[in-house]
Amino acid sequence: MKPEAFSLAVLDWYDRHGRKDLPWQHDMTAYRVWVSEIMLQQTQVATVIPYYQRFMETLPDVEALAAAAVDEVLHLWTGLGYYSRARNLHKAASIVVEQFDGHFPRSAEELMSLPGIGRSTAGAIASLSMGLRAPILDGNVKRVLARYHAVQGWPGERAVHDRLWALAERYTPGNRVNHYTQAMMDLGATVCTRSKPSCLVCPLQTGCEARMSGEPTLFPGSKPRKVLPIRTCQMPMLINPQGEVWLERRPDSGLWGGLWCPPQLDDEAALQGLYHRFGWKAGEAQRLEPLRHTFSHFHLDIQPLLVRVEPGLSVAEEGQVWYNLRQPARLGLAAPVKKLLKRVEEVI
Ligand code: ADE
Ligand code: SF4
Repeated sequence: MKPEAFSLAVLDWYDRHGRKDLPWQHDMTAYRVWVSEIMLQQTQVATVIPYYQRFMETLPDVEALAAAAVDEVLHLWTGLGYYSRARNLHKAASIVVEQFDGHFPRSAEELMSLPGIGRSTAGAIASLSMGLRAPILDGNVKRVLARYHAVQGWPGERAVHDRLWALAERYTPGNRVNHYTQAMMDLGATVCTRSKPSCLVCPLQTGCEARMSGEPTLFPGSKPRKVLPIRTCQMPMLINPQGEVWLERRPDSGLWGGLWCPPQLDDEAALQGLYHRFGWKAGEAQRLEPLRHTFSHFHLDIQPLLVRVEPGLSVAEEGQVWYNLRQPARLGLAAPVKKLLKRVEEVI
């Protein structure tokens, strides 16, 4: 199909089947689209919606986000994972307010200069909220284009990636680019799905090479599999006589950067050092059920321990807190920590 016929088929499908009622499609500003795109980068629409609504109620515009404490932003993000997204969001908001006078720059290239905004996200913001002809290439669009042209190979490889971007560029229309962008995402999410594409209802079926090959799911090629290594740690849930749990703020860079966690120890023997450091008297450590958390590059097997401590006169300093389970402070918590705190609440 020629680019015009391709985009017309996609737009016609959008008019009949595209999604038009997602929360970020109402009152479409660059800010609202940006926040939604960042949340949707690694997370499904259904999961994102309640987070998005809470986020917008608390931080309705870029000025509010720039003025918020990073702990507040991480708190609103708790449970979504990939927290560098939230930290970058906060940084980018400050830049927009300070360097762009509160207005998002009006080109994909300039949007890409902001932290956390890659080429596809910049294209989505520019096309959806500004109507600019800018291509996108998120996971869904990659799949549609790779299938349509039976592009071989894994899109993580440079050559495949470049070829898909060239296709995205070629098909993106000048007219109704906002609807085209949304339609391509929706097609990938609802019709050209990863394991069961519905080719019979697809607006692109006539020209699609993957469909003609009889094995559409062979495209795009998959990532070479590797076995994830396993790391282990001990995580003491230290509880004071008031029933509060000791948490420490993690450094900004690295795993769970800026989030609040119990201390993470290599082994149980390190517990004594911890008590000594704070001058605490501690009871016996009780082992709770282990928990596995999988990061992109390793599994972390966590052995949680429940320990009752008498902190004496020591006080929590900057970056440390006695976390009250009944009146929780607004802090960012890593997903497994949230789970563990819930368990602790049940047993104490
Ligand atoms: N995934 C990424 N952006 C999206 C959008 N605007 N609508 C639905 N899913 C998406
Ligand atoms: Fe995907 Fe099938 Fe449509 Fe091709 S025809 S784009 S494989 S749903």
